[in-house]
Amino acid sequence: MELLPLWLCLGFHFLTVEWSNRSGKVTAASQGGCKLVNGVADCRGQNLASVPSSLPTYFQTLILDANPLKTLWNHSLQHYPLLESLSLHSCHLERIGRDAFQEQAHLHSLALPDNSLSESYKETAAAFHSLKGLRRLDLSGNSLSEDMVALMLQNLSSLESVSLARNTIMRLDDSAFEGLGHLRELDLQRNYIFEIEGGAFDGLTELRHLNLAYNNLPCIVDFSLTRLQFLNVSYNVLEWFLASGEEAAFELETLDLSHNQLLFFPLLPQSSKLHTLLLRDNNMGFYKDLYNTSSPQEMAAQFLLVDGNVTNITTVNLWEEFASSDLADLRFLDMSQNQFQYLPDGFLKKMPSLSHLNLNQNCLMTLHIQEHEPPGALTELDLSQNQLSELHLAPGLPSCLRSLRSFNLSSNQLLGVPTGLFADAGNITTVDLSHNQISLCPQPAGLDLMGPPSCVDFRNVASLRSLFLEGCGLRALQACSFQGTALTHLDLSGNWGVLNGSIAPLEKIAPTLQVLSLRNVGLSSSFMELDFSGFKNLKNLDLSGNSLTSFPRFRGSLALQTLDLRRNSLTALPQRAVSGQLMRSLRTISLSQNPYDCCWVEGWGALQHLHTIADLAMVTCNLSSKVIRLVDLPRSMPQDCKWERVDMGLLYLVLILPSCLTLLVACTVIFLTFKKPLLQVIKSRCHWSSIY
Ligand SMILES: *[C@@H]1O[C@H](CO)[C@@H](O)[C@H](O)[C@H]1NC(C)=O
Ligand SMILES: *[C@@H]1O[C@H](CO)[C@@H](O)[C@H](O)[C@H]1NC(C)=O
Ligand SMILES: *[C@@H]1O[C@H](CO)[C@@H](O)[C@H](O)[C@H]1NC(C)=O
Ligand SMILES: *[C@@H]1O[C@H](CO)[C@@H](O)[C@H](O)[C@H]1NC(C)=O
Ligand SMILES: *[C@@H]1O[C@H](CO)[C@@H](O)[C@H](O)[C@H]1NC(C)=O
Ligand SMILES: *[C@@H]1O[C@H](CO)[C@@H](O)[C@H](O)[C@H]1NC(C)=O
Ligand SMILES: *[C@@H]1O[C@H](CO)[C@@H](O)[C@H](O)[C@H]1NC(C)=O
Ligand SMILES: *[C@@H]1O[C@H](CO)[C@@H](O)[C@H](O)[C@H]1NC(C)=O
Ligand SMILES: *[C@@H]1O[C@H](CO)[C@@H](O)[C@H](O)[C@H]1NC(C)=O
Ligand SMILES: *[C@@H]1O[C@H](CO)[C@@H](O)[C@H](O)[C@H]1NC(C)=O
Ligand SMILES: *[C@@H]1O[C@H](CO)[C@@H](O)[C@H](O)[C@H]1NC(C)=O
Repeated sequence: MELLPLWLCLGFHFLTVEWSNRSGKVTAASQGGCKLVNGVADCRGQNLASVPSSLPTYFQTLILDANPLKTLWNHSLQHYPLLESLSLHSCHLERIGRDAFQEQAHLHSLALPDNSLSESYKETAAAFHSLKGLRRLDLSGNSLSEDMVALMLQNLSSLESVSLARNTIMRLDDSAFEGLGHLRELDLQRNYIFEIEGGAFDGLTELRHLNLAYNNLPCIVDFSLTRLQFLNVSYNVLEWFLASGEEAAFELETLDLSHNQLLFFPLLPQSSKLHTLLLRDNNMGFYKDLYNTSSPQEMAAQFLLVDGNVTNITTVNLWEEFASSDLADLRFLDMSQNQFQYLPDGFLKKMPSLSHLNLNQNCLMTLHIQEHEPPGALTELDLSQNQLSELHLAPGLPSCLRSLRSFNLSSNQLLGVPTGLFADAGNITTVDLSHNQISLCPQPAGLDLMGPPSCVDFRNVASLRSLFLEGCGLRALQACSFQGTALTHLDLSGNWGVLNGSIAPLEKIAPTLQVLSLRNVGLSSSFMELDFSGFKNLKNLDLSGNSLTSFPRFRGSLALQTLDLRRNSLTALPQRAVSGQLMRSLRTISLSQNPYDCCWVEGWGALQHLHTIADLAMVTCNLSSKVIRLVDLPRSMPQDCKWERVDMGLLYLVLILPSCLTLLVACTVIFLTFKKPLLQVIKSRCHWSSIY
């Protein structure tokens, strides 16, 4: 390290200290654009056409990413014999000289992603032969076929991790990974693999982590990689997954089969350590109806395996195979986006450790909650977007959902839930019942105790914190609906009239609420201002889509950070928002889609300067018949408004003048008509007087 200051003194003009510690010690320098820090030479994107040869020789890590090298010449790395890690990401590499790594005895990590190594792969393969200690190799994105890969990896027996992602591999046979006895991690993502011959991975006795995502595999049968811990086969076209029938103990912990075309629940090893099973977005279901049998025990499937001209038919009894698979350690099960219409009795019983179950977007119609189903360890249950119209709770069960924390039932067809369901779930914090046509207990007159549950009771669910009831068609809330809860999040949006014009029904939970959503509930402030002063901890309030004509009141409420007042009937700018305590806590306010009067937006500037208006560009106001964006409003607005008032005076004058004129003319005419007989009278009198 003493060399470095010396170098600096020797007066390479271009040598600059780019990166120095506040403490004054120079730990970084740069040369020809390369940053030199603690044994790492970082020459990313310096437009280098060759490996720089003038860097100090002690570097262990050399990063040459994004330089147009094209060729890695023989011996071009000879100045860096201590190199342990070399990165050549996106270097347009087509050729690597067979002696390029001759001096790199210590190299254990080589990254070559996004190059064109398929161009002269034979020479490249030969170059790799001198890397006797290589442990990590990244060849992703090089347009390599399976033959090229086989040649390049030949005899690299020290390898522990290889990435072959984004290449053009189509099939794997038993020669592909010969002699890679230490390989632990293999990434084959985003190739075109449609076939894996039996035995292709046989030599990989240490393999733990295998990624085959985004390929074209149609099935996995006779899966027998007992040592594997992680297998990712998502985004393929799998229709079957069948583990070998052997009783061997599998080490498998995580299996990702999501985004495939599986028809049946995968038939898993009889003994494994599986804790995560991901089956999202397949075509799975249980087919009791199809089989027309009373018990699932009789369900069998025949697998037709065609291999060349040999056709092998394997008959599998689905239920027995499922029953023999080992799911005792399973904690996370994602079966969302499938075709499940029901879960067979005993299905969930096999998973006593299950803590997360996702059944979102299936076709479930009823669910029976009974002993050990779902298992007592369950903390998160997602049944949203099904067709559930009934939940059954086996009577007399002592808190079968005792560990449950989050229960998502949104977008179903529930009218209610069994009495005591939530009250018994002593740990429950989050319930989502949005988009079900429920009503809250107690019902008005006519409560039917015998039929299916017809209401939902949240009273005295002491652990409940977040409750989502959007679009439930709720009728006017009663003051006691949430009594005995300490809700922090409440969503009542889209229940028109749920508050019956005032927020009084929320008074009891007001002190604890932090997030309150009252979108489209038909609130108005025509009779009385809404007063949120009792909501001491409220941070986020959504009042959009109501008919508020005045700004709500927030006396003493200092925690409010987000306020949404869009789509209301506000005509004047909320002066109070600008002033006082509210502004100190408020971070975001949304005000657009209100019919503001442009003449009543004084103080707008103050709001604008605080940068808290999220939708400033969309706020408009009305000036007589025009709609103007507030940001386009001229500064001389008050004068314009005076003109506006003068205009109005003129208008009145113009309107009144003709009426006055008409009146005047009318008076004259009347006067004249009356005047005539008078004259006649006088005349006649005169006439009479002049008779003599
Ligand atoms: C100084 O450099 C050392 C070693 O790189 C680093 O751990 C430390 O955080 C740096 N200090 C400052 C202030 O940058
Ligand atoms: C590297 O040297 C070999 C001879 O040892 C030669 O055949 C090859 O063309 C050279 N490759 C490059 C890229 O210079
Ligand atoms: C690989 O190793 C085997 C024996 O270990 C040897 O026969 C073969 O020649 C080697 N291949 C290459 C290309 O070095
Ligand atoms: C499997 O691979 C896909 C694609 O890379 C990725 O999105 C997914 O998260 C992986 N699964 C697991 C369990 O890591
Ligand atoms: C299903 O079973 C019932 C009686 O159990 C029978 O009447 C019916 O025909 C069967 N349907 C089919 C498709 O086998
Ligand atoms: C299957 O094909 C192989 C050659 O590919 C042939 O030798 C064999 O006789 C064929 N078997 C049958 C049953 O046709
Ligand atoms: C058919 O499959 C069974 C079970 O997988 C296997 O034991 C048998 O050898 C296979 N037969 C042929 C002809 O492949
Ligand atoms: C419940 O599920 C729906 C649909 O899958 C989702 O949009 C919503 O965010 C979930 N609710 C909670 C509280 O996570
Ligand atoms: C909460 O969950 C824990 C762990 O499952 C359980 O032991 C405890 O009894 C539950 N609490 C209540 C009040 O049910
Ligand atoms: C709604 O409010 C009106 C008057 O404010 C009251 O007469 C009526 O009873 C309320 N309705 C319910 C269901 O509470
Ligand atoms: C403001 O303009 C909009 C759009 O022309 C109109 O619908 C609204 O009634 C006007 N409001 C007032 C107070 O003039």
